[in-house]
Amino acid sequence: MNRLQGKTALITGAARGIGLAFAQAYVAEGARVAIADVDIARARNAAHEIGEMALAVEMDVADQASIDRAVAETVQAFGPIDILINNAALFTAAPVVEIDRADYARVFDINVAGTLFTMQAVARHMIANSIRGRIINMASQAGRRGEPLVAVYCATKAAVISLTQSAGLNLIEHGINVNAIAPGVVDGEHWDGVDAFFAKHEGKAPGQKKKEVAAAVPYGRMGTAADLTGMAVFLASDAADYIVAQCYNVDGGQWMS
Ligand SMILES: NC(=O)c1ccc[n+]([C@@H]2O[C@H](COP(=O)([O-])OP(=O)(O)OC[C@H]3O[C@@H](n4cnc5c(N)ncnc54)[C@H](O)[C@@H]3O)[C@@H](O)[C@H]2O)c1
Repeated sequence: MNRLQGKTALITGAARGIGLAFAQAYVAEGARVAIADVDIARARNAAHEIGEMALAVEMDVADQASIDRAVAETVQAFGPIDILINNAALFTAAPVVEIDRADYARVFDINVAGTLFTMQAVARHMIANSIRGRIINMASQAGRRGEPLVAVYCATKAAVISLTQSAGLNLIEHGINVNAIAPGVVDGEHWDGVDAFFAKHEGKAPGQKKKEVAAAVPYGRMGTAADLTGMAVFLASDAADYIVAQCYNVDGGQWMS
């Protein structure tokens, strides 16, 4: 299929995991993709494996100069940006009484300010170039409700949903659709870290937390990055033109709203 033929996409945090799966799916649909990540070595490997339709771009979404450079590099290599996926994020967890202020600031800087100011930089670029673009923000089921040990990360994802709603309403007047995806539990390196945290804090055996969360998914298993690519392609495609400021759950039936 060629649903994104001729489009240029910038995907943050695309060196691995869900972002990498999105990059592969977008290229398969005919797009050129900038794989933007703070881990430039891994981004280069990913781009090399995908081929000439992919470009590795060094980017720290917590740093405004780096955001601006990444946008400029993408435009220089591939032309105007049609699609942005704000996917880069950090997970953190701690009991409320142990939350560290510096960790809080770092995670908010990446997950919330990174999403907002990358969205701002790309929206300015789209408006200046009269591009009726698409912006997709990665939220989470963690943004739909609290979790006892995950206050900071949950709050950042609630903020991503809220930013998607406000920016979606504001930017549609320029023909830019902003929407979000809220995954549930998606297996991969991110969840390896989550599992290790719960092993430490709840005395579980390694792998136990993953088994428990998988058993709680109505579909019957954890998600995979590939389970999310259909929604990411759809939201960037012409078929989603009338969809504005929404957040879609792709979570095997875990959350309904
Ligand atoms: N895996 C899940 O279960 C799950 C569930 C819900 C939502 N999500 C969200 O989906 C997105 C992708 O998740 P994932 O599981 O692939 O995560 P991941 O941790 O595997 O990958 C995140 C990527 O972001 C990059 N990154 C980190 N900080 C960065 C920065 N400052 N600037 C640029 N890049 C940076 C990392 O190098 C990494 O390549 C995230 O927004 C995450 O919160 C994941």
